[in-house]
Amino acid sequence: MRHLLSTADLDRDSAVTILDVAEQMSVTQQREIKKLPTLRGRTVVNLFFEDSTRTRISFEAAAKRLSADVINFSARGSSVSKGESLKDTALTLEAMGADAVVVRHPASGAPHRLAVSGWTRGCVVNAGDGTHEHPTQALLDAFTLRRHLVGEPGTDLAGLRVVLVGDVLHSRVARSGVRLLNTLGAHVTLVAPPTLLPVGVGTWPCATSYDLDAALQGEHGRVDAVMMLRVQRERMNAAYFPSAREYSRRYGLDARRLGMLPERAVVMHPGPMNRGLEISAQAADCPRSTIVEQVSNGVSVRMAVLYLLLSGERSAPPDRAPTPGLTVSAGRTARDLTAGGAR
Ligand code: NCD
Repeated sequence: MRHLLSTADLDRDSAVTILDVAEQMSVTQQREIKKLPTLRGRTVVNLFFEDSTRTRISFEAAAKRLSADVINFSARGSSVSKGESLKDTALTLEAMGADAVVVRHPASGAPHRLAVSGWTRGCVVNAGDGTHEHPTQALLDAFTLRRHLVGEPGTDLAGLRVVLVGDVLHSRVARSGVRLLNTLGAHVTLVAPPTLLPVGVGTWPCATSYDLDAALQGEHGRVDAVMMLRVQRERMNAAYFPSAREYSRRYGLDARRLGMLPERAVVMHPGPMNRGLEISAQAADCPRSTIVEQVSNGVSVRMAVLYLLLSGERSAPPDRAPTPGLTVSAGRTARDLTAGGAR
């Protein structure tokens, strides 16, 4: 695989490989010197057409810790605000020799367009496109779940039960998450008001419910994790619920609902949070919350993705492109990193 555009690109084994390599990466991140020489001389461009804090910083840290050269490009303050198209921006980046392009864009499908266009020779990594997909977020969530609830590298998430709550309609985290968790053997229940569930959700590989209390109490089986989604007001052009108060009463995670969870269950949120709306401060900051840890796990997971995509051969023009990939490089990666990191 040359690009990471969607969690649909990942089968069980390639997803487990990424999680395993991320585990190795995270070991190197405990060392005093965190930098590995692995991607020296390669160029990673972060192309962000939409606001981001965590994801952009995380990709930047990941690329730098692998010794890649990093170019950060944000649409604000660039010629995009003068009307330059994705194509012209991509051609400019190509002229700079990008080996990987990490792209976030408000339009669903933009990273796919970039990958198939031939405008760049680099690997394309989707860092969130519209309401479509956010595969590295799904991977870091799976990584966090495996660490807490399964423990063993090499394993998937078989049998875990995850309740995903909130604004599913606008959430690329939910789309990517449901698919990846399913690929890894977990059972997902989506909980949201009917207005915030997308048309066609019945075909997704998960259960759905409108009743958070029932889901937390184990309507579909004992809950291992509850993942809260941000209410995405910036994507709402209509009223999807009567009031913020009503929303948090019915779909917010608060102290009372925390008390319904089994003891070992974890509380997750991709950030940024609307404290007091979908999650109370008490729930966000409770000992079983993995929210801060998700951010640091994001760096290890993105290191793994960049490494696996870029560590194959040097990029060649699209018609002669090698097909290095997540599976092909995996064995070498794990050995190199355990052997002390340097290549
Ligand atoms: C998510 C995103 O941008 O899709 N955040 C993130 O990447 N950390 C979720 C969100 O914005 O609510």
